[in-house]
Amino acid sequence: MEFLIPSRTSRPGDDPIFSLNAEATKRAKAGEDIVNATIGALLSDDGKLAIMPSVAHTLSTLPFDTVASYAPIPGREDYRAAIIDDLLGPYGLTEQATCVATPGGTGALRVAFEDFLEPGQTALTSSYFWGPYRTIADESGRKVGTYEMFDAVGRFNVADFDAKLDALMTAQGRGLVLLNTPCHNPTGYSLDQDELDAAALVLARHAEKGPITLVLDVAYGYFQPDALDRCIATFTKLADRLLVVFAWSGSKAFALYGQRIGALVALCPDAAQRTRISNALTYSCRGIWSNCNAGGMAAVARLLSDAPLRAKVLAERAALVELLAKRVAFWNEHASAAGLKYPRYNGGFFTTVFSSDPTKTSHALAARGLFLVPTAGAVRVAVCAVNEEQIARIVDGLRAVGA
Ligand SMILES: Cc1ncc(COP(=O)(O)O)c(C=O)c1O
Repeated sequence: MEFLIPSRTSRPGDDPIFSLNAEATKRAKAGEDIVNATIGALLSDDGKLAIMPSVAHTLSTLPFDTVASYAPIPGREDYRAAIIDDLLGPYGLTEQATCVATPGGTGALRVAFEDFLEPGQTALTSSYFWGPYRTIADESGRKVGTYEMFDAVGRFNVADFDAKLDALMTAQGRGLVLLNTPCHNPTGYSLDQDELDAAALVLARHAEKGPITLVLDVAYGYFQPDALDRCIATFTKLADRLLVVFAWSGSKAFALYGQRIGALVALCPDAAQRTRISNALTYSCRGIWSNCNAGGMAAVARLLSDAPLRAKVLAERAALVELLAKRVAFWNEHASAAGLKYPRYNGGFFTTVFSSDPTKTSHALAARGLFLVPTAGAVRVAVCAVNEEQIARIVDGLRAVGA
């Protein structure tokens, strides 16, 4: 007898990225000289998890009753206020926003699917996208559709974004658009000001047909602060026409992946509508995970609102951004000299190298001890996880297998 409902009987039991990482780790432990560029965590040049000492200290000195108590369902008040302020304070928009705590940016995406799209409807994102978007959609009974991410000259494909959003709005009268910039996963691409403006025009036009929620997935935003500012400045101007929400993540911003700290921030100038949104989001939180990690929230609230601590966080984060920026520059120099084809890459945890057969490329690389994640049309390089010597080996390997 089959106890699972039919749609669940052939679910894969392992996440492709985590299982590749497990294989790489196993072979490394067995003594092989492995380069593991699979996982999206920033490692120092000696392969250890890069951490922020001020974060570690703050977390370890929290009173135990803070850590052990239940947090409020929408999250600690100080935490929610601090996240809103961090994102929207510089734009004078904090009064117009509401926020719920979520387990990572992943949780924010999950409640966005639940509350802003009908069951069975389709969200829109770019042709290259972070695979869990589809998993999250599947789990909540929604779907993901895509537009071609790049045009013939490798820029953001505004025309296809326009066409696909048009088709979706016509078909379902409602839109949920997931835009992961800056430092898109998996390509590393960040929209420049012209591309942001063009995307904003398209969104504003289609918003006349029905409600559009724009989810700005800014999981990697603090690794390109100028690009994040441009993104926020551009899209917050649309707040009177569509709903702008942020999927905020503390995983990369505070190098605090395991604490599962995140938030959904919704910018909604209309107070009554804002209350309805806040209520619906809180209800979803209760129904999906109840409440989030109290200690992680308390630590992040303190790190953002205590001025000396905040200054330390900014300095420590700047050092991590610098570590990554050096690798990005090294990658660009060597990968372009080797003739590899990859999108514009100015910063962020990943880049991708285009490949007509990504699975074959990734297997050929694994045979050489090089682990990269295959994705549709490309293999992803977690530049965050490898040092310069390893980047050089990846570039050589990619050239050798004909990527
Ligand atoms: C594009 C993107 N969005 C969101 C997330 C969410 O991360 P977390 O749930 O750890 O905050 C990730 C994490 O890898 C990501 O790559």
